[in-house]
Amino acid sequence: MKSYEYIDLSPDEYYILHPRPAYLIVTAKPGGGLNVMAASWVTPVSGEPPLVALAIGKEALTNELLMTRREFTINIVGEEHVNEVYRAGSMSGRSIDKWMALGFEEVKSTKVSVPGIRNSYGFLECIVNSVHEAGESTLFIAEVLGAHVRKDLYGRYGWNYEKAKVLLHDRGRAFVLPGRKIFAGKSV
Ligand SMILES: Cc1cc2nc3c(=O)[nH]c(=O)nc-3n(C[C@H](O)[C@H](O)[C@H](O)COP(=O)(O)O)c2cc1C
Repeated sequence: MKSYEYIDLSPDEYYILHPRPAYLIVTAKPGGGLNVMAASWVTPVSGEPPLVALAIGKEALTNELLMTRREFTINIVGEEHVNEVYRAGSMSGRSIDKWMALGFEEVKSTKVSVPGIRNSYGFLECIVNSVHEAGESTLFIAEVLGAHVRKDLYGRYGWNYEKAKVLLHDRGRAFVLPGRKIFAGKSV
């Protein structure tokens, strides 16, 4: 069997864990208005109850808003949203109203007061239920209270990748799109 060689990287070269889905996190500002940030360190961690984990940098306005307001939405986006995702991930809501600047529109949530993003592929309505120290980030564990997906993009077998160009983040300005669905053989 052929044996490949490895190169050594610095332990902070976490990008080898990418690509990872790039989401838009919407939070509400105390004086009114919404903030939106790009996040790819987001993952499901429990099905029963449905919990997700998000690692959010301590400097981010989103971190402060999750601590104080607790409600938010995770929006799944695609190829057509790549510029908005990059911009929402490279400017802070502390210095600009990103929601207005990026021209987002709301879709009403049913369980939380924060909306989803109109024309996103789908969104989860969440509430923070615990907060953990994680180096330069805070790890937020949140309960998912509602989930919505676009009818034209989702079916019995999940995302229809012919139409849903779900956006994954590689590094910097580089993003990746899923290729095609493949199936493993049956396990014995
Ligand atoms: C594709 C992409 C993914 C990102 N993922 C994360 C992430 O998971 N956690 C994080 O803290 N920052 C992440 N960032 C950086 C934040 O989006 C960025 O710091 C943003 O300015 C924070 O916005 P805010 O201050 O308005 O909350 C990401 C940026 C990009 C472009």
